Amino acid sequence: MKLSIIGSGYVGLVTGACLANVDQHVTCLDIDEKKINKLRNGIIPIYEPGLEGLIKEKVASSSLTFSSNISETVKNTDVIFIAVGTPTNKENDSADLSQVYSCAEEIAKNIKNNTIVILKSTVPVGTCDKIEEIINLSNPSINFDVVSNPEFLREGSAIFDFENPDRIIIGTKEKNSISTLNSIYKKQIKNNFPVIFTTRRSSELIKYASNSMLAMRIIFINEIADLCEKVGANVEDISLGIGLDKRIGPDFLNAGPGFGGSCFPKDARALVESGKSYNAPQNLLKAVIDGNEKRKENLSKRIIEVAKNRKNIGVLGVTYKANTDDIREAPSLSIIPDLINKGFNVSIYDPQASRDGIKEFEEANWESDIYSVAKKSDCLVILTEWSEIISMDLKKISDIMTQPIIIDFRNLFSLDSFKKLNIEYHSIGRETINSHKEVE
Ligand SMILES: NC(=O)c1ccc[n+]([C@@H]2O[C@H](COP(=O)([O-])OP(=O)(O)OC[C@H]3O[C@@H](n4cnc5c(N)ncnc54)[C@H](O)[C@@H]3O)[C@@H](O)[C@H]2O)c1
Repeated sequence: MKLSIIGSGYVGLVTGACLANVDQHVTCLDIDEKKINKLRNGIIPIYEPGLEGLIKEKVASSSLTFSSNISETVKNTDVIFIAVGTPTNKENDSADLSQVYSCAEEIAKNIKNNTIVILKSTVPVGTCDKIEEIINLSNPSINFDVVSNPEFLREGSAIFDFENPDRIIIGTKEKNSISTLNSIYKKQIKNNFPVIFTTRRSSELIKYASNSMLAMRIIFINEIADLCEKVGANVEDISLGIGLDKRIGPDFLNAGPGFGGSCFPKDARALVESGKSYNAPQNLLKAVIDGNEKRKENLSKRIIEVAKNRKNIGVLGVTYKANTDDIREAPSLSIIPDLINKGFNVSIYDPQASRDGIKEFEEANWESDIYSVAKKSDCLVILTEWSEIISMDLKKISDIMTQPIIIDFRNLFSLDSFKKLNIEYHSIGRETINSHKEVE
């Protein structure tokens, strides 16, 4: 069976490499010729643990190829995945489906009989119907099926997630497609990961509802953390206490800087917009989005309040989470420009984030490691939970900086770690440790 994947980004490349790993012949396609040339030359355009090795192995065994010739590839493909971006529209908060529909047009012109088109991109309900319409209009006599198969992988553990999914959702009622999808996911099925067959519309909505539910948990625990700070409670104990309730569960109850990334913010906005257009208001989710925006503003205010007249701020981690180079909608994108506009000098260290072309960081200084940032800072702000930051030498930090302050928006350290160090430590939803006086 010949598979092609349109869109060679985080989802497309991982899907392509993982499917090539189960004896399929896969072509990853992209409109961006530079990206395809890089891939052909063995340069992987994104950072995702394990991806580079897997891609190189599959290219070497000829099960994975790259092309920017979408029309030619589509003509020779049995199954076409669409994994292009669905960002927020520039004019309103709905999903911009132009990349998806442009793929549909390209497929419509070149599709052969009995092809299955699988939509992996995250899209509002009805998008698969629309793709079907576009193909039918160009090619009324052809036999094909459009299937919804949303992706749930997490950047940073994407290969593991693809191979060990919590569930696979497949939206189609066509028997042939069901049997083809069963064969595509044979490894996951053999390993007993749940596969849910449903309608296309339910499948499309499951993805938005999942991301929105996770976003809600993040905002919920963040607001509880704010209350903890006011009343002298500890948010980690609260998370433990509520997470042990089996009806609630322990995941996604870590207080932090708010959600970012390429999915939660845009998907939450798109679901609110869908609710509006069908007159089924998503009021809870609207409050979640507003709460997240407010949180980023409040974090800048908090840094400024704690730093007082110290003007040199070091930021550790700018990606929206660890183990990815993705900074889309990361809290750093609003916090760093805010600090610079208020007259602070900002130094940055991140193990993977790209330094180029990000206008929000243009006036900041990039350093090559944590301790170089510390040397230039009066106050360190932790935004990402990179393991390198978790394992940083706090004693060395306290030796390098004079009267050091750490503002940790990820709660990476136990409060006890600071009891004997000359560091003022602020975190989220927990007591502030100010050991400066005790050490003196
Ligand atoms: N990134 C994630 O963690 C993740 C997880 C699950 C689902 N998703 C969803 O998957 C989709 C893709 O996300 P991503 O992060 O991989 O996006 P991405 O921006 O990393 O990649 C999209 C790719 O599609 C290409 N492209 C755009 N239009 C094209 C066209 N007409 N023809 C060919 N290629 C085209 C772009 O050049 C880009 O390389 C989105 O809908 C997203 O919401 C993302």
